[in-house]
Amino acid sequence: MLSDDVILAELEPTAGELLERHLASTKEWFPHTLVPWSRGRDFDADYEWSPEEVVLPDEVRSSLFVNLLTEDNLPYYFRTIERMFGADSAWGVWARRWTAEEGRHSIVIRDYLTVTRAIDPVALERARMAQVECGEVPEPETALDGFAYVALQELATRIAHHNTGKVVEDKAGYEVMKKVASDENRHHLFYRDLVTKALELDPSGMVCAIERQVRTFEMPGTGIIDFEVHAKAIAKAGIYDFAIHHDQILVPVVLRHWGVEALEGLDAEAEQARAALVKRIERIGKAGRRFATRRQETTAAEPELAGV
Ligand SMILES: [Fe+2]
Ligand SMILES: [Fe+2]
Repeated sequence: MLSDDVILAELEPTAGELLERHLASTKEWFPHTLVPWSRGRDFDADYEWSPEEVVLPDEVRSSLFVNLLTEDNLPYYFRTIERMFGADSAWGVWARRWTAEEGRHSIVIRDYLTVTRAIDPVALERARMAQVECGEVPEPETALDGFAYVALQELATRIAHHNTGKVVEDKAGYEVMKKVASDENRHHLFYRDLVTKALELDPSGMVCAIERQVRTFEMPGTGIIDFEVHAKAIAKAGIYDFAIHHDQILVPVVLRHWGVEALEGLDAEAEQARAALVKRIERIGKAGRRFATRRQETTAAEPELAGV
């Protein structure tokens, strides 16, 4: 397994190319143009939010709450990313650009939620303070673990945003979530293709890192109050659940795009990791189907993703 220094130096030209591709495929956009300001009004000093402000199922509110708080916290991942990738060269340019884009996501979602009063603004602000103050961010052990985690996480976030947009039943809300989701997709593509290159450079190291990250994967809700309760509600609503995780991430990306089953030249540890990874993906698929069936019959909640 190669050291982080070697991996980062070897993959720096790739990071530069992927950064160029990212910038070329990005169309500048502005949060203020997506927010339906005409629906807004001042908040009285004694304002108390009521769910009657907007008719929305609780699980959709859970999803909006978690998605926004996740975006609020993402810029703080910068600490880990810069420590892992360094501040110089294409790595540093990418990390700063990514951070600025993630900041834009929380601006647009918060403005939308404040104007439409879809969520209690006091509870939301208290939750944001609590989350950011606790300062929790993922700390992957190696650069390869970092690549694998963000490749999965950006796609998961894209799907969660897009699905939330669909159930929010408001054209403006849909457009906001769709715009954010399209950025997440570009973030995902950067990391997905970085992993592809890393698989050529250090197949054994990369496979072990993918296996670890799939095994321990959690949505990036670190530090959100009542995260597990919300995650269960989100799964119950079919916005993000095991079946989606399996069918839209693990199979198309890990198995098909990265082609982990067909990789050659793995060392003994990586062979073991690959076997465990393929088995786990199968298990997650089975669990997804089981929960989906059970959900249709009852309101059974799903356990955490990392529990399978
Ligand atoms: Fe984002
Ligand atoms: Fe992102």
